[in-house]
Amino acid sequence: VGHLIHRDGEVVSEVVVAEDARDRTALVPADLQPQRVAVFAQPGSAELATEVAAVLGGEVLVLPDRDEAKTIAVVERGYLWLSDIGLDRGDLVVGVGGGALTDVAGFVAATYLRGVAAVYVPTTLLGAVDASIGGKTGINVGGKNLAGVFQHPRRVVIDRSVMMALPIHLVREGAAEAFKAGLIGDERLVDLYEAEGIDAPIMTVIDRAVAVKAHIVSADFRESSRRGWLNYGHTVGHAIEVAGGLSHGDAVAIGMVAAGAASRHKLGYADADRQRTILERLGLPVSAPPVAIDEVRRLMALDKKRVGTTLRMTLLRGIGDPVVTEVDDDVIAVALDAVGLG
Ligand SMILES: NC(=O)c1ccc[n+]([C@@H]2O[C@H](COP(=O)([O-])OP(=O)(O)OC[C@H]3O[C@@H](n4cnc5c(N)ncnc54)[C@H](O)[C@@H]3O)[C@@H](O)[C@H]2O)c1
Ligand SMILES: [Zn+2]
Repeated sequence: VGHLIHRDGEVVSEVVVAEDARDRTALVPADLQPQRVAVFAQPGSAELATEVAAVLGGEVLVLPDRDEAKTIAVVERGYLWLSDIGLDRGDLVVGVGGGALTDVAGFVAATYLRGVAAVYVPTTLLGAVDASIGGKTGINVGGKNLAGVFQHPRRVVIDRSVMMALPIHLVREGAAEAFKAGLIGDERLVDLYEAEGIDAPIMTVIDRAVAVKAHIVSADFRESSRRGWLNYGHTVGHAIEVAGGLSHGDAVAIGMVAAGAASRHKLGYADADRQRTILERLGLPVSAPPVAIDEVRRLMALDKKRVGTTLRMTLLRGIGDPVVTEVDDDVIAVALDAVGLG
């Protein structure tokens, strides 16, 4: 059981839930017979990664924590380590950790020997519902995620016992993106968060949110219109994240409030208030911290999704009905005003 990601009619990646990821059959797709296995970890996942490596007869390299790992220097260290242990084209890279770790491990795997198979074991909710799905890898070079390649992991193994034991701050951080998945593609996930708040059963949340993202990225592997749906809340959110130094989840929550108001203004979206109430119930912020509005506007204008001279935003006509559309200044003003940047 799980979710398949297709491209041109072929399965390129599978997302499975395992009771316990420390299991060779769960981890290694049947058509792979790796001689060597290289397991990348971050500090918060080092213990699980060591056990995964033991099961696979592999070796572990623990990288720096969080985005400290997403540098060209760490990538080089990764290549040299793979070379030291003699990793070959038919071998396997396993990334065990949050999104930062799978982003860099995936980049190393996708580029070493022009591409070695990768398997991810996400250990954060954000990793499970977002970062491990869709085939984007990346590192930071000046700006965030500015260097990267597309390569799907062959398999994503979500360990149930890890997800059930997550600390609350990681549940909340991931809830912003899981809720976004509900808003753009699954009203029942919205209903679930509305009824249960942050205590919503995490494996149901994961299953439903993964289904939304797997469907969208199957339809459209590279960045274009449908992938743009995943940017709901990210235009204002990303600007506030940078300007205010917020966590990504908090920033996206605020960004969704802004996008909800813009959607109501431009498209008659009826659930803007409902969306905001649910975000509050999840313990996520719904208005911007004190940041300079000019800085937010400048950052929005720099947004790489900008086409020509008009800003594009992902808006909702209704829950499950997103559209990527050009927005003019009055819509942007409504969006910013809704989060206290009037
Ligand atoms: N590739 C994509 O499509 C995509 C999508 C979204 C986000 N991302 C990237 O994901 C990154 C953020 O990922 P993240 O939020 O998963 O966090 P992270 O990888 O930055 O890790 C967060 C922290 O949690 C710790 N940790 C990991 N697993 C844990 C566990 N089970 N229990 C306790 N602590 C644990 C880590 O050591 C780290 O300190 C960013 O770099 C972002 O750019 C990528
Ligand atoms: Zn995001």
